[in-house]
Amino acid sequence: LTVNLNKATANVSPKLYGLMTEEINYSYDGGLYAELVRNRVFKDNPREPEHWTVVEKTGGKGSIKLDNSTPLNPALTTSLRLEVENDSGSTGIANEGYWGIPVKPQTTYKASFYARAATENAAPLTVSIESTTGPATYAAAPVTLSGHGWKKYEVTLQTKAGIQPTAAARLVISTSKKGTYWFNLVSLFPPTYHNRANGNRTDIMDLLAGMKPAFLRFPGGNYLEGDLFATRFPWKNTLGGLENRPGHQGPWGYRSSDGLGLLEFLEWCEDLKMEPLLAVYAGYTLKGDHMEAGPFLKPFVDEALEEIEYVTGDVNTKWGAERAKDGHPAPFKLTYIEIGNEDGFDRSGSYEARYTQFCDAIRAKYPQLQLISTVGGKDGLGSRFKVTTRRPDVFDEHYYRTAWEMEEDASHYDNYDRKDPKIFVGEWATREGFPTTNMNAALGDAAWMTGMERNSDHVIMSCYAPLFVNVNPGGMQWKSDLIGYNALNSYGSPSYYAQKMFSTYLGDKIVTVTGENIPTQTRSPNKKDSTAGRMPKPIPSLFYVATRNTQTGVLYLKVVNASDKAQTVAIDLAGAGKVAGEGTLTVLKSSKPEDTNTIEEPKKIIPVNRKIKGLSKMFSRVFEPYSISVLQLQIK
Ligand code: AHR
Repeated sequence: LTVNLNKATANVSPKLYGLMTEEINYSYDGGLYAELVRNRVFKDNPREPEHWTVVEKTGGKGSIKLDNSTPLNPALTTSLRLEVENDSGSTGIANEGYWGIPVKPQTTYKASFYARAATENAAPLTVSIESTTGPATYAAAPVTLSGHGWKKYEVTLQTKAGIQPTAAARLVISTSKKGTYWFNLVSLFPPTYHNRANGNRTDIMDLLAGMKPAFLRFPGGNYLEGDLFATRFPWKNTLGGLENRPGHQGPWGYRSSDGLGLLEFLEWCEDLKMEPLLAVYAGYTLKGDHMEAGPFLKPFVDEALEEIEYVTGDVNTKWGAERAKDGHPAPFKLTYIEIGNEDGFDRSGSYEARYTQFCDAIRAKYPQLQLISTVGGKDGLGSRFKVTTRRPDVFDEHYYRTAWEMEEDASHYDNYDRKDPKIFVGEWATREGFPTTNMNAALGDAAWMTGMERNSDHVIMSCYAPLFVNVNPGGMQWKSDLIGYNALNSYGSPSYYAQKMFSTYLGDKIVTVTGENIPTQTRSPNKKDSTAGRMPKPIPSLFYVATRNTQTGVLYLKVVNASDKAQTVAIDLAGAGKVAGEGTLTVLKSSKPEDTNTIEEPKKIIPVNRKIKGLSKMFSRVFEPYSISVLQLQIK
């Protein structure tokens, strides 16, 4: 490999690596969003209180059912009615959480709920976290209901030292007093990242922080669009107190609590120093309905303008003032707006006119914003249609492929015309292994990332999808995800670590690398990829890219050996002044490409760092089979 340090090169996009999320695979509810109570507002199923059971202990007797006769407010219309039939023992309600309630030692949980009793007399309740497999109560606190109407009650539950972490637990609210009780918005939070009220799980946020992402594309994906107009992402209903949020039906087969709403997305950005990349609903739904451009589309355009104002407006604007009322007076920085999602699926071809209407309205009010079109790129789906009436600033392209396809197409961006709109690879992944991807996927990802990085003057942003999966049975709707978790633990896939290596070891200038005599590899046709039915043509077995930090002088040379053979590579640092004799090598590898990390074995494949010596302007290194390596060299 010749690393051409003497050639002038382009800048690396400072936003090259970011995150994409949506409510899929229990990404927020049962995932990042730290709420532990499932179906807290009783709207998951209109026929029965799913995830809730009646508790009858030591002679207690009672029943539970959904009740629409005593709404808490116009948003939360269904409550859980508990009928306690006697004054003996203990009777109550229990919530099973998202595949359990995580119990950890010396941990403070915040429980809250709205309740009312049928009588004026004070009614003593106990709120507790209890084992589902034995008699243990991990934490408990008393609450006394008073008065007749709905009231909010809050208690703190503290676990003791010495208990073994477990998810075999449930939240229980019980009483030994006969009577009728109603409950709504029952909530339980463990400690959250940065101690935010209504915040996020710390372990998953730590994994994300490790990736140093530059932006967050939200709220989708399909989750933006919804199956129907009525189930598009309802950002206005996700604002303010949780008692104003009824939730909505998501497109991935379950209802979203909307506890992680528009402001929470923005605060998540703030916590990880990411810039929001806001996708606005553009009048097309997954089941195929679309709104023709013109007066019928205008309310959706207005809604997008209001949403942008909520994000960026100062407190003197209507929606900026709303944001301040919600607790965040400072506006958020916003550069990119995506208009819709995957509108190439809209076979009517209505996107061009819809894009035009959104574009004109947004540019008139916010000329500084960069607009992303979901069609016009070269990813197959996006190339079905064009936007010719206006020039989008950026095209969003999506790629879901096998490792072979990623490797075969790693030079995809090398010949894109720089005069065309910039590229945002808004969804991409090598889909091998599930629920989280395996090492072969990480190799495909890494090969693909060498191409994006080498062309990051033009490919200005990229984000993998989907980001999250709850690994419990029923938690996964989309195979092949980056980060997996259950109630207690979380882990990164080999693809996660590959991405972390690419995004954290990154300079500010692209350095041209040329390869000679790179061995090729061939594989048998694989029924899963585009080579099905034909003999795949040979592709390189080594992929590479280099960037340089012009402040520190560090060169990052990334080399992906996707083959089953070690490869000895002569490296010529052409044009380098002085090269420090010692550098750092970071390697992610496995002996078998199908090896992976799991919730049981979360760190089977992780990057390992070591110092290397004997470096000079020309040296050689052996790159191990199935490995992703980053060499950090100090160059003067
Ligand atoms: O990432 C999963 C889905 O793939 C997204 O919701 C959608 O945009 C794409 O088709």
